[in-house]
Amino acid sequence: MALLAIIGIVIQPVTEVSKYVLVPIKQQASYFICYKKYVHNLKKEAEKLEPGINDVRGRVEVAQRNSEVVLGEVERWLSSVEDIIKDAQRLDNQLQGNIRCFDLHMRYKLGKEAKKKIDTVNGLQRDGNFSSVSYPNQNTSIESLPDGDFYKSESIESSMKQVMDALKDENINIIGVFGMGGVGKTTLMKQVAKLVKRERLYEEVVMVTLPHNPDLKRIQSDIGDPLGLKMPPEEGDISMRACKLSERLRQGKNVLVILDNLWGRLELADVGIPNREECKGCNIIFTTRSTEVCDAMESQVRIAVNVLSEHDSWSLFREKAGGIVDTPTLHDLAWKVAKESGGLPLAIVTLGRALRNKDQLV
Ligand SMILES: Nc1ncnc2c1ncn2[C@@H]1O[C@H](COP(=O)(O)OP(=O)(O)OP(=O)(O)O)[C@@H](O)[C@H]1O
Ligand SMILES: [Mg+2]
Repeated sequence: MALLAIIGIVIQPVTEVSKYVLVPIKQQASYFICYKKYVHNLKKEAEKLEPGINDVRGRVEVAQRNSEVVLGEVERWLSSVEDIIKDAQRLDNQLQGNIRCFDLHMRYKLGKEAKKKIDTVNGLQRDGNFSSVSYPNQNTSIESLPDGDFYKSESIESSMKQVMDALKDENINIIGVFGMGGVGKTTLMKQVAKLVKRERLYEEVVMVTLPHNPDLKRIQSDIGDPLGLKMPPEEGDISMRACKLSERLRQGKNVLVILDNLWGRLELADVGIPNREECKGCNIIFTTRSTEVCDAMESQVRIAVNVLSEHDSWSLFREKAGGIVDTPTLHDLAWKVAKESGGLPLAIVTLGRALRNKDQLV
């Protein structure tokens, strides 16, 4: 302390220049004078991180059990806290060891390192208040969608193949899929999302089903949320949110955005979806009932989803209705109903299910 006091006296007749020169000297001197205090403080401050790290670890474990994605900043925080706790212990061990009183170099080193790490610990204490530690893993949920009810009709398989070929074509980044209501566009898109993830064609896949009158903020949130971008619909103005989303989409190496159910032109730039020049790895597929929307969206390819053939209609109907359709009394009627459904899976599935287990009515 005496040395610091002397330095303080020397500083008294401060000129601006001496201030700049002497303050750092005082700081340097404090390293080998106050080294013990610094190491003790470091240990004390590092200990204060322990309840926080236990809490965050617990929340991370719960999130992982729910297949959620842990935020990068949380992972970095945890690993920095673990490191600093070890460092504090190491410096304390060194202090307990044999530091000879005259080993000024060792005292200086210890003091300097401890002081620096106290600042780091304080920063980590401030940063450790996470409102959330994870976000839902949209990609996992896409991958784990059940295959069970997906009927691979000839027409659906053909549309699926065309979609996959277009997705593999580097010159195509906006694909339009069209077909009448109930023909199976949404069902197809769910399968495509799964397949591209399984085949590792895209690292990230986001599927958003749009309402009739879509609200841009809602779309931005629905795309951003699964990518871990916190953008509640009530927050921020549209263009600021668009910038944020665009930045995030450009970060991903390969992102497929599926916009299901477009009713008219959607200004992708207004939403924050980058164009081909801005981001080569960000591709779009949209579905619509109308080919005019494909034109309005300037899709590079248009893929039709067609109704089922008579043969496929009957197979799907039979699958949904069960063995009842083979009973002599119902067979002809069932065949007629399947035919009347006009090859629309929506109608076939609904009617088939309605007939299932209704043999007591016959
Ligand atoms: N390939 C399929 N296998 C089995 N069921 C299917 C298939 N495609 C569609 N369906 C059935 O038809 C229903 C309607 O399909 P879907 O919602 O995919 O149609 P859509 O073309 O998206 O209609 P919309 O234009 O109204 O959005 C589904 O809920 C499902 O029950
Ligand atoms: Mg649909």
